Amino acid sequence: MSAVPSIDLNDGQSIPQLGFGVFQIPPEETTDAVRTALEVGYRHIDTAEMYGNEREVGDAVRDSGLDRADVYITSKLSNGAHAPDDARSAFEGTLAALSFDYLDLFLIHWPLPTLYDGDFVSTWRVLEEFRGDGRVRSIGVSNFQVEHLERLAAETDVVPAVNQIELHPQFLNAEVRAYDEAHGIATQAWSPIAQGRLVDDPVITAIAERIGRSPAQVVLRWHIEKGNIVFPKSTTPARIRENFELFDFELEPGDLMQIDALEQGEAGRIGPYPDTFAFVPG
Ligand SMILES: NC(=O)c1ccc[n+]([C@@H]2O[C@H](COP(=O)([O-])OP(=O)(O)OC[C@H]3O[C@@H](n4cnc5c(N)ncnc54)[C@H](OP(=O)(O)O)[C@@H]3O)[C@@H](O)[C@H]2O)c1
Repeated sequence: MSAVPSIDLNDGQSIPQLGFGVFQIPPEETTDAVRTALEVGYRHIDTAEMYGNEREVGDAVRDSGLDRADVYITSKLSNGAHAPDDARSAFEGTLAALSFDYLDLFLIHWPLPTLYDGDFVSTWRVLEEFRGDGRVRSIGVSNFQVEHLERLAAETDVVPAVNQIELHPQFLNAEVRAYDEAHGIATQAWSPIAQGRLVDDPVITAIAERIGRSPAQVVLRWHIEKGNIVFPKSTTPARIRENFELFDFELEPGDLMQIDALEQGEAGRIGPYPDTFAFVPG
């Protein structure tokens, strides 16, 4: 089994650098996918209330026979639950759905600066309560831009342990990534293989052919060497396995530079723009 490195967080905890993401996996397929991932060796699962599959993630962990303490579990606050009392109920709902009495990491999924009077600071203080009472080991944010992180720094005492942002070779998200690094915030890269778009890129496929690896492995290895935390999603067992085999090869400095040069700036962004995204589940 490959040994997955751990990344130290700013609160004294640590997180496996490679995990398994379950966004867009229908609940009826989630238990099988997560069970496969745990059999392959993944010990870090990234879910969210808005993915609608927390219950099935919990079931898969229990089915695996692994100790709860051996699997790192992240979930995220629904966009519909930023008001403090709603956030408290939503967090209890997440623990109940997973059937766990604690989470390893809980995130504000989106900053939603155009909703809730632009107040994500009160929401953050509620996450601080969950950490304080021991129901979550680490707290963090997702899709926070520099100005959102600056506001938390100015108005609160706890620096997020992680910021989970869109980041892949076509969208380096460099300004946010640099802020995270300068302030001790670990960066988690979502859509690490750009939802599959990068596997046909000629630069990636040429490197993959030269070193005898798959294109997805090349891109995921690039993230690992950059220090990003990643959790690729797949419902295909062979790909779940392939995406885990990242720790018995290295890229050359020239490969890293060629991959960096795929950056397209905002044109490379796949997901919503965090400053204006205002989706609230119905
Ligand atoms: N915080 C946020 O706002 C946010 C947003 C998006 C994602 N995320 C997190 O990040 C995780 C990963 O991002 P993502 O699911 O958007 O995209 P991704 O992991 O970059 O890509 C997933 C897609 O790539 C395909 N794929 C996976 N492995 C492959 C391989 N080895 N070769 C070829 N194709 C492959 C999958 O197909 P098959 O499944 O058909 O194999 C799927 O279509 C999510 O699951 C979620 O946990 C967070």
